[in-house]
Amino acid sequence: MRKKLLAANWKMHKTPEETLAFFREFLPLVAGHSRDEIVVCPPYTDVHAAIQSAEGSGVAIGVQNVHWKADGAYTGEISAPMLVSLGVTHVIVGHSERRQYFGETDDTVNLRLKTALEAGLTPICCVGEVLEEREAGLCDDVLRRQCVRAFHAISAKKAAKLVVAYEPVWAIGTGKTATPEVAAEAHAVIRSEAAEVFGPEFAVNLRILYGGSVKPDNASSLMAQPEIDGALVGGASLDPKSFTAIVKY
Ligand code: 13P
Repeated sequence: MRKKLLAANWKMHKTPEETLAFFREFLPLVAGHSRDEIVVCPPYTDVHAAIQSAEGSGVAIGVQNVHWKADGAYTGEISAPMLVSLGVTHVIVGHSERRQYFGETDDTVNLRLKTALEAGLTPICCVGEVLEEREAGLCDDVLRRQCVRAFHAISAKKAAKLVVAYEPVWAIGTGKTATPEVAAEAHAVIRSEAAEVFGPEFAVNLRILYGGSVKPDNASSLMAQPEIDGALVGGASLDPKSFTAIVKY
């Protein structure tokens, strides 16, 4: 059985003080919750506060991006060794907001993915179609293309820790959620592509999260789908009570 992973993507929200306050309230609420894995991905500036707060709690700390070089003249970038030395264990790669606003391409997603895996981080690789692609019947093609390019030249052995997140762009921050059935269909496409690239055994064990307006009131119906192995939560992860309600779907 695949253990579900509930991940918070805080995007560009919260100061270190707000991070400390979040964990003060959140950790007692999820204490002893071992059914699922819990990861919180704050902005880089909150990582130190998050790691100190979460120590010994079982809640893992991730970030929202990683550069593919270990060091060098890359102003504004953060490398995998820097993250590992802080105690970061997870990293979101290829989020649609990076693709839309910051020039992320399938090729740079691939570089980041390789780097994260080589550094021993657990990458959460995001894929998903925009509304026009869905309406044009291109959803499966887009997902397959994004997966093939993201997974390029990575062996199944190297990819062992890979997690994929299906995040339909039209559902992000819009309050529109994919129905559990629509999400499950997309997950099945991603899983079949993973089987093509990495083999069927790998695909059976691959965790595929759903992201896009996951809220306390829709989490349980989404998580009830056998194809859905967890959630990547934006807005509703900023509040300790609402993220707890999702974790305890
Ligand atoms: P929302 O939950 O705010 O729709 O964001 C989803 C997302 O982008 C998570 O990475």
